[in-house]
Amino acid sequence: QLRGAENPPIRRLAEWDVERLRELAGEHDTPLYVTDLDRVAENCARLRAAFPDADVKYAVKAHTGRAVLETVREAGLDAECASAGEVRRAFDAGFPGARVDYTAVNPPARDLDSVVEWWDDHPDLTVTVGARDTLDRLAERGYDGRVCVRVNPGVGAGHHEKVRTGAAPKFGVPYDRAAEVVADARDRFEVVGVHAHAGSGIHGEADLAAHRDLVARMGELAREIGDDELEFVDVGGGFGVPYHEDDPALDLDAVADATREALGDLDATLAVEPGRYVVADAGVLLTRVNTVKPTPETTVAGVDAGMTDLLRPAMYDAYHAIRNLDAGDAGDARETGPVTVAGPICETGDTFCDGRELPLPDRGDLLAVGNAGAYGYEMASTYNSRPRPAEVSLAGDVLRERETLAGVTKLERGGADE
Ligand code: LLP
Repeated sequence: QLRGAENPPIRRLAEWDVERLRELAGEHDTPLYVTDLDRVAENCARLRAAFPDADVKYAVKAHTGRAVLETVREAGLDAECASAGEVRRAFDAGFPGARVDYTAVNPPARDLDSVVEWWDDHPDLTVTVGARDTLDRLAERGYDGRVCVRVNPGVGAGHHEKVRTGAAPKFGVPYDRAAEVVADARDRFEVVGVHAHAGSGIHGEADLAAHRDLVARMGELAREIGDDELEFVDVGGGFGVPYHEDDPALDLDAVADATREALGDLDATLAVEPGRYVVADAGVLLTRVNTVKPTPETTVAGVDAGMTDLLRPAMYDAYHAIRNLDAGDAGDARETGPVTVAGPICETGDTFCDGRELPLPDRGDLLAVGNAGAYGYEMASTYNSRPRPAEVSLAGDVLRERETLAGVTKLERGGADE
């Protein structure tokens, strides 16, 4: 078996083909997401190699674009969906019901209605449920199909407190009530699995220790409720990628081995559901400098992308590598200095970096923001009446058209026509 290490490791921003990115920005304008679909397929292959006998599900929320979903399906991963909308998109991208898992977190009635309706045509889909009340709501709709019980493992991990789901009461039934909820569910549904998710961006020893704890607890629970009666034990996703240029890459094989070991012997299959790991390093955001302003502390590079295009720095203080594709190692020789890359939105938090040592910018420079493939376009908004950016594949296909102002206002009485 090919193990992950034999595939190309995480791709750094410095490894993207600068000429190609320049061409794409020239043809399609900025801000522009560029997605390398081959890289998505490679990441899927790495995951399957590291977890050869596990069910690997892609957490669709990280990037729901049709081309990405099709690539992931062809690469053999299943789909883990967070809403009826994501379930629909997985079906539309060709995933059969047997490869779709709907993780229903406080599901709106409309979502449950839709999924139960689609279940007629896709009787093998699985609904993952984190509250007894949600089981009742499914039963009220006549659903008696496949159910997975989401457990709150009491163990959280991840890159920011806002994404450490594992210990938050919002998610899953309390660990010590899980066996009872499974027993109740077995009376009314076909219980095929148990599930828990520690959080997102697991990277570093403390997070990995938490992940191992969670997995061990899930192994114990499965044996307690009868692992021979379960198809799978899903221990969540969250595998991190290096956002800092000098962060080490996660050793996926070591994580996989530790997961297996912590789980112990089980009749049920191990399942994992990474999102970020599949798409993060397959995407960059290209943006152009439009205003240069030297200040005593820093040179402000005003760019045409903002928190509306890539929210992560504003929302989580997330670090993203930034490369000036017209200066320094990628372009002409330039002095470096502290640079603040700031977007056009009227919020102080609308910066991609503050005082970072970068080549001093010129107006018109093209900048690339790394690891933008996960939770990038997905979290884009139209705040400040900013149409959402376009997305192209590295091969040059338009995956998402640039939104227009008419698109932004189309639901509004008297909205713009073009
Ligand atoms: N499974 C469940 C049940 C989840 O809630 C999530 C992420 C995943 C899997 C996938 O986690 P991943 O492998 O992508 O880390 N917007 C945030 C991340 C939110 C993640 C929410 N749940 C960010 O940009 O960092």
